[in-house]
Amino acid sequence: MTHKPLLATVLGERQERPPIWIMRQAGRYLPEYREIRTKAKNFLELCYTPDLATEVTLQPLRRFDLDAAILFSDILVVPDALGQSVRFEQGEGPVLDPVSAESIGALKPERALDHLAPVLETVRRLRAALTPEKTLIGFCGSPWTVATYMIGGRGSTDQAAARLFALRHPDAFAALIDILVATSIDYLVAQLEAGADVVQLFESWALNLDDQAFEARVIEPNRRIVDGVRARVPNAPIIGFPRGAAGNLANYAARTGVNALGLDYATPLDFAARHLPADLPVQGNLDPLRLVAGGAQLDERIDAILAAFQGRPHIFNLGHGIVPETPIEHVAGLVERVKNG
Ligand code: CP3
Repeated sequence: MTHKPLLATVLGERQERPPIWIMRQAGRYLPEYREIRTKAKNFLELCYTPDLATEVTLQPLRRFDLDAAILFSDILVVPDALGQSVRFEQGEGPVLDPVSAESIGALKPERALDHLAPVLETVRRLRAALTPEKTLIGFCGSPWTVATYMIGGRGSTDQAAARLFALRHPDAFAALIDILVATSIDYLVAQLEAGADVVQLFESWALNLDDQAFEARVIEPNRRIVDGVRARVPNAPIIGFPRGAAGNLANYAARTGVNALGLDYATPLDFAARHLPADLPVQGNLDPLRLVAGGAQLDERIDAILAAFQGRPHIFNLGHGIVPETPIEHVAGLVERVKNG
């Protein structure tokens, strides 16, 4: 077994106190992140500059007793690497030139991994910098989630553009998913070879899908990635985070073969306890806004989550990314309560 508590938990070992990391733990709630951010020309440049990306990844671990570092990058470096235009505009989020049924053939999967070389260099530097008890988490976006941005050109609350595209242009949509599956497998294998201990599949838009669409667009592509990665890195540890999967959660975990399941904050604790296999490691599921507000409601909810998952392998985390308004003292209090009661 491993001496890394977080990796061990992904592999199914229950710990006395759960290990903890925080989605988007490197980010704008930290003044030292905002400082580094001004040094890069834009957000993608920050992701592609190993000096800066390594520094930003390590910042939250200097402040808090976290059990893992997550590679600083973004799920949208993959469309960028495929040759699509991707920009991050201040206060607006990502903006892409949308792909069409005709333009999917112009994507360049053959050059994607070369384009991502600086990110892999960051992984190697992190591996060298981290002490042995820390787990290094790599990641990519799951194909459907990445496709919603590639097709819609920006984030949306209902992913209508991508949902319609998948129904109107099934062949072009399948070709896009095939490209994303193959590129994601290569990219995750390269991250594991560069020193990542675990990889996480971010399926942030696993909601708004009927069960047939969930099967075809979420379960199948995630299963193909898990199988494809493990064909090249046997037993690769993988966390799946299908945000919004609700009643499809148990099916997602069983059918994709992920080691551990990320739970969003809308997943009821008693539903997780009753419907997920008792030995399935879970990660989550604190509402990030509870961490903003702080106080007694926060402590009570932390304790409720700890109690609900006490009998199984559990990684404490938020149910979605930490938001920029979060007070740093609240994060310190959270880590302390999870670690020491
Ligand atoms: O967790 C970490 O600390 C590692 C870095 C990380 C980022 N994005 C950095 C980032 C990770 C794992 C992601 C994943 C990501 N990116 C997801 C999946 C997780 C989720 O939140 O659902 C998605 C959907 C994206 C796409 C994306 N990137 C959006 C929609 C935005 C804009 C919204 C926002 O929070 O600003 C980003 C930008 C982004 N990615 C920032 C950071 C720190 C903020 C950009 C900045 O500093 O200006």
